[in-house]
Formats: sequence, structure tokens, C-alpha cells
Amino acid sequence: MFEMPRLSARSKPARYRALAEALRSLLAGERDFLANAANTAALLYHGLPRLNWVGLYRWLDGGLVLGPFQGKPACTRIRPGQGVCGTAVARRATIVVPDVTAFPGHIACDPASRSEIVIPLIVGDRLLGVWDMDSPEPGRFDAEDQAGLECLLEILLANSAWEGAPVPQGRSRARARRTDRDRVER
Ligand code: SME
Repeated sequence: MFEMPRLSARSKPARYRALAEALRSLLAGERDFLANAANTAALLYHGLPRLNWVGLYRWLDGGLVLGPFQGKPACTRIRPGQGVCGTAVARRATIVVPDVTAFPGHIACDPASRSEIVIPLIVGDRLLGVWDMDSPEPGRFDAEDQAGLECLLEILLANSAWEGAPVPQGRSRARARRTDRDRVER
């Protein structure tokens, strides 16, 4: 049985370090990407405060398709350029949205969501999908969250195989070439 690390009294960077250690241990011995993404979503949903949705959208046939997640039922398909997720795909960059009501085209799957972070999952030049997290609190995600989450998602990619093919070690990237913090589409 997996034991959640004790996290509540730690600073944010220390919490992410503890989660990274827990994630490595959780994913050890399993390479299936969807199984590992499901456990990553559960670890983050229960290990981080003030979240109402955590999960994966896979890149399939030119669009995003809902994958493993924690939270309320969500829309199943998102086109490139649509919503925060589709915008992160179009830009190949992490997007932090402090106020979802100020992001034109934001897709409200859960009306409780007030802020959001979407991180593209890229291996080499291949887009695997995006990792999406929502919070009921405005401005929930800061630069420390972005750095911590990108590090956790690199662990997910480095420890998983995608459609049977091993992910090339050392080339996974859950990090943007550029980051569009606080920027909104006009
Ligand atoms: N808010 C996202 C849609 C996915 S849900 O938040 C789970 C978006 O605007 O792309």
C-alpha cells in the first residue's frame, strides 16, 4: 500500500521535493503511461492543497482527449487553440492563468475553478498531451508551483512508455521553451 508523505507543515519547495520522491517511488516498476498518469493525478490531487481538478489530456488525432484525472467529470475533447489547454498546445508553453474569467475562451468544466495551470508534455519534438490543474482559489499557482509541477511531470515522462515505445531518457520535457505567465489571448 502506498503511503502519502506528510506534507502539511513544509514550505512549498520542500513539499514539491517530498512529492517528487513519493512520485518516483509510486511509479517504480510500472511503465504504462496511462497507469502512471492516473497515479500522478491522484498523488497531486491529494498531496497539494486547494485544487478541484488535476489530470491529463492526451494528444490524439490532432486534438486533446480526456485522460486520467481527479475531480468532477470534464469535457472530453479540446481542439488546438481552444481554451487554456488548446492555447498551451498552440504555444507549446506552460500557461498560468490567475483568473480564469479573464482568459478569453476559457472552458469551464467545473464552475468552481478560479485559476488554472496547463503544462504541455513534450518528448523530443513530440507532443504527448497537456497536464491541467484547476483551483477554486484565484491566483493559486505561482512560479514555485510551476517549477515544482514541471519537475514532477518530467518524472512522469521519464518513467513511462508511450504506446509501447520507451520514452527516450534525458529528452523528456514538461517545461516550456517560453512561459506565458499572466498573459491572455486578445
Ligand atoms: N479549463 C480548461 C478545460 C479543461 S477543464 O479545466 C478540466 C480549458 O480552458 O482548456
